[in-house]
Amino acid sequence: MGIISVFWLMLPAYLANPFAVFTGHGLPVDMGRSIGGKRVLGDGKTWAGLIGGICGGVLIGLLMMAIMDLTGEPLPIYCSEPHGIMLLFLISTGSLMGDLLGSFLKRRLGRERGARTPILDQYDFVIGAWAFLAIFQWGWFRENFVDDPRYLGMIAVLIITPLLHRLSNIIGFRMGQKEVPW
Ligand code: CTP
Ligand code: MG
Repeated sequence: MGIISVFWLMLPAYLANPFAVFTGHGLPVDMGRSIGGKRVLGDGKTWAGLIGGICGGVLIGLLMMAIMDLTGEPLPIYCSEPHGIMLLFLISTGSLMGDLLGSFLKRRLGRERGARTPILDQYDFVIGAWAFLAIFQWGWFRENFVDDPRYLGMIAVLIITPLLHRLSNIIGFRMGQKEVPW
């Protein structure tokens, strides 16, 4: 149960990214700027995607809260409002900040937009989401992700995420939303 609930709570972090892919276009977050001849983040990180992704993650979480309201809470919820919305905002923003940081590091390594970069591509958003929750809501994060046996859920997330990542990118590629299948 601990493992499942960690995945459940991670849904907004997972889904914030596809929302960013669908809503992303136009003005890049780095405004086209470069450091040492390399783009700060690149054209794959846009303001529209960032905002769309955060809103999408929060929306998914609100949907989760509504479902739990109807079914009588077999799984943990994002608490009651307004705390829940704040947690959703943190996990969604953390997920996309991790994604931005991942792209920042990729550009520093000299990798072009979309270049495959194991570890960073697969875990940047997970680490971002966990970091934001741990920094700003440690008590809640510890209770729901860390305390025995929940930490097993975190380990399961680390094992399964690369597989989910691969699958979602193949789907995104087939749907014409992504330029490369990774
Ligand atoms: N996207 C966006 N804004 C974001 C995140 C994603 O517009 N903040 C959109 C972009 O169209 C991007 C696509 O979603 O190309 C896929 O996201 P991702 O794989 O993270 O970007 P890449 O293009 O692979 O670029 P990078 O090498 O920086 O990861
Ligand atoms: Mg990518």
